[in-house]
Amino acid sequence: MTNKYIYFVANWKMFGNLRMIDSLNKVISFVKKLKRNRFRLIYCPPNTLISTLSKKLKPSPILIGGQNCHESNNYGANTGQVNSNMLKDAGAKFVILGHSENRQLGESDRLVNLKIRSSIKSGLKIIFCIGESLSQKKKRVTKKILTQQITQGLKGIKNKKHILIAYEPIWAIGSGLIPTNPEISEIIEFIKKKVKGSKVLYGGSVNTKNINVLKKINNVDGFLIGGASQNPNNLIDIIKKTFN
Ligand code: PGA
Repeated sequence: MTNKYIYFVANWKMFGNLRMIDSLNKVISFVKKLKRNRFRLIYCPPNTLISTLSKKLKPSPILIGGQNCHESNNYGANTGQVNSNMLKDAGAKFVILGHSENRQLGESDRLVNLKIRSSIKSGLKIIFCIGESLSQKKKRVTKKILTQQITQGLKGIKNKKHILIAYEPIWAIGSGLIPTNPEISEIIEFIKKKVKGSKVLYGGSVNTKNINVLKKINNVDGFLIGGASQNPNNLIDIIKKTFN
């Protein structure tokens, strides 16, 4: 996989402040030394930091993404909500949609579909998250669940070239547990068959240790990294090890 183009998506979740942005200087200088045609690094900070971070990262090849948005890109009386046009305006080029932490709060496949459609209209690229729970895995219905998430989430979307799919087993997120490489590889193959030509990332407890194992997955196109991405040294380490 060392010769492949790899995506690294840093999902900061509900963490981060202005001080953390200063700590990114070392990531910026590290990234500048790498060949641009080998990888794409996308930082997804909370909305409060998108604008500041995008100004800071502008001279670098690092891109910015939002972590979620409203299903409509119209402006309106929706207190506390942010739409995809606003993310774009603040400097985002990507948005994470369908993350299990939002699905657990009641976000349906239909809602994810509307969010994807409106974000594409706003000119954003999508990091579309799918994944099964532990009980679904134990019941051996993973592929059925993923099929449903894909079919409903991408319903009516003809041009999928703006969509990266992130396979994130819910039980692997923040738990330190990861599936085996053959398990991940089989699911990625399954997703790529369902969505022809798609790029598929793996997410869930990716860290500086297990990246040495995960990077050996032949068909993976990158990684969605939560906890470990908040520490610039860890993120640099993950990228370095991926290419070593
Ligand atoms: P994690 O999170 O790396 O902390 O498990 C991944 C994610 O939720 O995107």
